[in-house]
Amino acid sequence: MRLVILDDYNLASEWAAKYICNCIIQFKPSQGRYFTLGLPTGSTPLGCYKKLIEYHKNGDLSFKYVKTFNMDEYVGLPRNHPESYHSYMWNNFFKHIDIDPNNAHILDGNAPDLQAECDAFEKKIEEAGGIDLFVGGIGPDGHIAFNEPGSSLASRTRLKTLAMDTILANAKYFDGDLSKVPTMALTVGVGTVMDAREVMILITGAHKAFALYKAIEEGVNHMWTVSAFQQHPRTIFVCDEDATLELRVKTVKYFKGLMHVHNKLVDPLYSMKEEN
Ligand code: GLP
Repeated sequence: MRLVILDDYNLASEWAAKYICNCIIQFKPSQGRYFTLGLPTGSTPLGCYKKLIEYHKNGDLSFKYVKTFNMDEYVGLPRNHPESYHSYMWNNFFKHIDIDPNNAHILDGNAPDLQAECDAFEKKIEEAGGIDLFVGGIGPDGHIAFNEPGSSLASRTRLKTLAMDTILANAKYFDGDLSKVPTMALTVGVGTVMDAREVMILITGAHKAFALYKAIEEGVNHMWTVSAFQQHPRTIFVCDEDATLELRVKTVKYFKGLMHVHNKLVDPLYSMKEEN
């Protein structure tokens, strides 16, 4: 596991964006050789998406040969609702880059047969050759995607009932009105994310500090589903100082001492201008 600790949210977002950019460029995507990226929603990845858009606008990064798969979507919320994850992804990311809309996959929370929709999503991931880099975020209760506490760590894409902690955390997007927050969602499983060749999880803010501690300093536990990534051979946690508040000083010192190694992953920042 790599734990990358940056001073604040903006630096953590930039580090994550640089890492994604370098992964895509080093892969040398082309017609018939697509880079496959798993993507999250939430407030955490917004800074990272902004940076990726900037790299795209500067001509440094293209998403022409990138396929994306989103982690989750609410059930029953109209697709064009401002808080649907479809709206989120198009408004905050996809409409600003050159991705082919046919290559941006988001679960349909209004599908007539929800399990068939989930099964088809898994199949599409498989047909795309699996996910090269799954970027994720977590809830303060340590859930990844919508894999709430108690979810099987071998789970696949399916329908989940949201936990009260998640409904409370997400109420801010629905005028603080708990009754407006959807109670169910479609989500990739922990097993689906575990199958990715590499996983990068963004954790920022003091309200996620306990979850980060549970994720990396205690055992693998289905009550903190993000802890499953202790068993993934290539996981990077990217966090800010605030998120490390519950970690042992020893842990923080060790990983901070490795920053010069981790920074080699993002410096130099590659550009497609030089590649072509
Ligand atoms: C929801 C999503 C998660 C996301 C989490 C964190 O629960 N299903 O995928 O990681 O929110 O959101 P935020 O980044 O706003 O804290």
